[in-house]
Amino acid sequence: MTTEHTSAINPVFARRESEARSYCRGFPVTFTKAQGSIMTTDDGVDYIDFLAGCSSLNYGHNDADMKAALVEHITGDGIAHGLDMYTEEKAKWLEAFENIILKPRGMDDYKIMMTGPTGTNAVEAAIKLARKVTGRRNVVSFTNAFHGMTMGALSLTGNAGKRGGAGPVSLTDVTHLPYEGAFGDDVDTLALIEQMLNNSSAGIDAPAAFIFEPIQGEGGLNAASRDWIEGIARLAREHGALIIVDDIQAGIGRSGTYFGVEGMDIEPDMITQAKSLSGFGLPFAALLIKREHDIWKPAEHNGTFRGNTHAFVTGRVALEKFWADKGFETEIAEKGEITEKGLQKVADLVPGAVLKGRGFMRGVDVGSGALASDICARAFEKGLIIETSGADDEVVKVLAALTIPNDVLERGLEIVLEATRDALANKNQIAAE
Ligand SMILES: Cc1ncc(COP(=O)(O)O)c(C=O)c1O
Repeated sequence: MTTEHTSAINPVFARRESEARSYCRGFPVTFTKAQGSIMTTDDGVDYIDFLAGCSSLNYGHNDADMKAALVEHITGDGIAHGLDMYTEEKAKWLEAFENIILKPRGMDDYKIMMTGPTGTNAVEAAIKLARKVTGRRNVVSFTNAFHGMTMGALSLTGNAGKRGGAGPVSLTDVTHLPYEGAFGDDVDTLALIEQMLNNSSAGIDAPAAFIFEPIQGEGGLNAASRDWIEGIARLAREHGALIIVDDIQAGIGRSGTYFGVEGMDIEPDMITQAKSLSGFGLPFAALLIKREHDIWKPAEHNGTFRGNTHAFVTGRVALEKFWADKGFETEIAEKGEITEKGLQKVADLVPGAVLKGRGFMRGVDVGSGALASDICARAFEKGLIIETSGADDEVVKVLAALTIPNDVLERGLEIVLEATRDALANKNQIAAE
């Protein structure tokens, strides 16, 4: 695989696009095409994609069946934008979600709210509703959490750099408590949280909700155990708070099952969905709400782009194609194991490295952001798109499409291993000089 480039990047990006741009800085090439798990540049160089639109492309790029359905819809003058009016496409998507996802999981009791098209909007809707339902102001979120960039979601987010983006405002009405493992394996954060919540002098106002990610995606691939998640759900109930599962990154198969908390003894009051909900990389977010909490008045959480008609088309195909039986979950589990084995080889090279994540949401904590970033940069030079995650970017994170062919996955993992060898050799050489 060669990554020699013959074309230069158009200067319009540096001249005209805001400094807020980010991923393009780590992958400084111009992409023109993508298919499955391969992205191709304007000068014909192929890259294996271990980023998958940050889990927005769980079924890979340009799935043939979704593409065909969308092309047919567009060429037939199907509705492109219908606000939240009734459309055939919305009905078909809702029926598919009901029959393929909700009913087989005993979740007939949930309603689906179309929010604005990005994950952060689903999070905003969730915390607004929790506050309305309970009449309480405070929301509990966790260290290393990432819930989005709008003000409400940002107030739930732990990362100092991301919070700093809001400028000198107060991000209020949230209590940040430690996620499982936040203070190392020796500190039982569940017991600590229980003690704090039961201590009327701990300064924690009665919470409207607890919001958590089953696996913290941006926060370093911290995968909470079943016991911890069930414990948090129990505490929420004991304290009259609602349970909001933010499944925007861990959901839709990434954790190994459709929802990140499947098989656990908890009944979320709300579940956020976005990223891969459309299946095709189109913007689409939704909030699942326990029927009894759906107390919204019409248009109380409005928005021009609630329910993207094109996304209803591709999202329905995704549900029918991948979730009608258990076969896909078996494939995801196999890819998760391949990834774990590949990353173990990386961890074996780096003193103190730790494997992170579960399902097909995996990574390796290499102990420093500088090393992880160097590994990702070297991997890119060898033809792999891969990113870091974690408070200090210390985790090399694999978010390949759930549909990636095993041989492509293995080749990508080899690149990570080669890049790690090179990065370590370089680090040792600098230390020796
Ligand atoms: C768990 C989680 N919640 C919310 C968001 C925000 O989603 P969006 O970027 O679509 O607003 C993200 C994005 O990475 C996420 O990982």
